[in-house]
Amino acid sequence: MKAVIDHCRQIASYSEVSGQITRTFLSPPMRQVHEYLGAWMRRLGMATRVDHAGNLRGTYGEGKNALIIGSHLDTVPNAGAFDGVLGVVMAIQSVELLAGERLPCQIEVIGFSEEEGVRFGVPFIGSRALIGDNTLLSRPDIAEAIHAYGVGPVEAPKPYAGYLEFHIEQGPVLESLNLPLAIVDAIAGQSRMDITFTGQANHAGTTPMALRRDALAGAAEWILAVEAAGLADGVATVGHLALEPNARNAINGRVVASLDVRHAADATRKATVDCLLVSATKIAQKRGLKVTTQVNLDQPAVPMHMGLTQQLSEAAGPRAHRMTSGAGHDAMILAPHIPSAMLFLRSPGGISHHPDETVLVGDVAAALEVGMRFLRDFHV
Ligand code: GLV
Ligand code: MN
Ligand code: MN
Repeated sequence: MKAVIDHCRQIASYSEVSGQITRTFLSPPMRQVHEYLGAWMRRLGMATRVDHAGNLRGTYGEGKNALIIGSHLDTVPNAGAFDGVLGVVMAIQSVELLAGERLPCQIEVIGFSEEEGVRFGVPFIGSRALIGDNTLLSRPDIAEAIHAYGVGPVEAPKPYAGYLEFHIEQGPVLESLNLPLAIVDAIAGQSRMDITFTGQANHAGTTPMALRRDALAGAAEWILAVEAAGLADGVATVGHLALEPNARNAINGRVVASLDVRHAADATRKATVDCLLVSATKIAQKRGLKVTTQVNLDQPAVPMHMGLTQQLSEAAGPRAHRMTSGAGHDAMILAPHIPSAMLFLRSPGGISHHPDETVLVGDVAAALEVGMRFLRDFHV
């Protein structure tokens, strides 16, 4: 199914940064993606709209029950072409493969506006709005972005019979097993925070080492504690630093470090975060720094729906692997409200959140076959 890969590569050209794939929440290239995918859906006879959170939505057929198929259209900075986008493209390709055939249920394709948390530091803006949580939309900076883009009127949440998400695995497990597909059992919980270390910015040449309050040196010590915590159990990452003044000949007086901690067991994730906050405080005290914390996400681990996962598993047959996802997905926001199931496609080289991210044509074809069996047999 090379067409799917071609669509993803075309969408990859809609980027905020030339020569890279970077497309954040409601940034200008998102409009090109909406136009491209919207036109494709309309050619298939689907009715399309952009909802109040900037999610691209297209409906196909009628029926008293509706099944969503979707994923996200935003990316991390310097991303690959498939994380999120593949799930939306495969959803529309599935409708195309139906070739006008009507199912007992309506299909709604959703390209979520925001899942990565890049532009505003908080993830899942699109999927949270779909389930009726519009709190993020009134945050002044987010409201301004929505106003500038221009979106549809506020929509009340409605009941859906199910949610199916195709997604690349984003890790090395399927490749190591030499298998194309996996059914997701559950998605690991996530904590995301910003930790600010404040010291004193000063001259790099004149300030003796013993008289410094270097916020970056403190953050660096703490980052090693974060790595050690991840090595002990789970995964823990500092992926972003904002430095002030960030000059080669100055001591940094302020550092904002992101923290991302994930674990399938919520109690372990919370214990790791508590331990890292204590460690930040101790390091700050020792170095004469101040530390403050802002929580951006405390998302519990989420099981997928047993019944829908069973239907997906029957469509996939015995060769599909079963696994927990370490990456977050829109499905984890929807799952407590809408029966949700996920199908992973092997990630060659286990690479993701990187331009080398890719997917195999044969795996796309296999996933679409599973998806079509699932759609035709889907029952509530
Ligand atoms: C989404 O890609 C995540 O960070 O898990
Ligand atoms: Mn991602
Ligand atoms: Mn994703």
